[in-house]
Amino acid sequence: MKILVTGGLGFIGSHTVVELQTEGFDVVIIDNLSNANENVLDGITSITQKTPIFEKIDLREKADVQDFFKRHADIAGVIHFAASKAVNESVENPLLYYENNLNSLIYLLQELQQKNRANFIFSSSCTVYGQAEKMPITEAAPIQPALSPYGNTKQIGEEIITETAKVTNINAILLRYFNPVGAHPSAAIGELPLGVPQNLVPFITQTGIGIRKELSVYGDDYPTADGTCVRDYIHVVDLAKAHVVALQRLLNKKNPEKVEIFNLGTGTGSSVLEVIQTFEKVSGKKLPYKIVGRREGDITEAYANTDKANSVLGWKAKSTLEDSLASAWKWEQKIRADK
Ligand code: UD1
Repeated sequence: MKILVTGGLGFIGSHTVVELQTEGFDVVIIDNLSNANENVLDGITSITQKTPIFEKIDLREKADVQDFFKRHADIAGVIHFAASKAVNESVENPLLYYENNLNSLIYLLQELQQKNRANFIFSSSCTVYGQAEKMPITEAAPIQPALSPYGNTKQIGEEIITETAKVTNINAILLRYFNPVGAHPSAAIGELPLGVPQNLVPFITQTGIGIRKELSVYGDDYPTADGTCVRDYIHVVDLAKAHVVALQRLLNKKNPEKVEIFNLGTGTGSSVLEVIQTFEKVSGKKLPYKIVGRREGDITEAYANTDKANSVLGWKAKSTLEDSLASAWKWEQKIRADK
């Protein structure tokens, strides 16, 4: 069965391609290489011994999307990752985010609605919950006004899919990720942030290897156990496997509703200081850090109630924070050794 993975050379996309191929699916990747490198294909191939088809297409080019589906009429399912994801950049250039993240989604759905049945998995985010009132966060928690244009594109994306699925043959699963981290245990693929990382774990591993002088911990005066923010860090391989399970649910027509929503996290919250300590333990390195002021737009805590994914999808995150950070560290050492 042929599956289209958009953004399939990116961080979560590439790990999902590996899991799809491992389960016997044929994969076609669309990526515009705006935040990914074509040699990720080699990493995927080295793990699975199978090279996915790759087409360099920019999904903002409607004619190219139409042409793609004409040439690949046998696509059985689509997992849509392709999107811009830098929060700061989205504040500085909102139109880039609305154009890139929404036009591409609309053009894909326009092609899929012509099929007898379409199966669509959407890469959403726990950012839609904002600062939820109750922890852990269930899928029923109210959606809060978005804190950035990036976050807004995820909310609007969910709405576009939900409204379209109602009146078409599109069946969709919206996956709300908590904080994806780590790398494939082989260290053949992993996260490749452009420039200075905004996210915690790549900043930590780059500091550990000496590229960054020290980590700034954004605030220790939050109302949490140690005063630093709490997040739910999920291993990217666990996350990737959830996509395959969700896709199989749609392909087997096991979805009772046209649109289903699942949180994907571990269910455990970890503070920034806990992440630092765990990194020090798995790497054997002392991590230089200093406490600085809060980062604008940060929420105090977010961790998932994963009951729905556990019981309905039959999926559960297996890796611990230690596993995740050990794999991220192995990857960082590998990419620096290659340079
Ligand atoms: C961030 C985005 C979120 C997006 C997610 C994608 C913001 C405000 N939020 O989430 O919209 O969906 O990435 O992965 O950008 N931290 C430090 N020092 C650092 C970096 C981070 O102390 O140098 C802290 C942050 O304050 C936060 C935690 O580490 O408490 C995790 O930060 P990050 O990895 O950026 O993820 P989120 O803020 O949860």
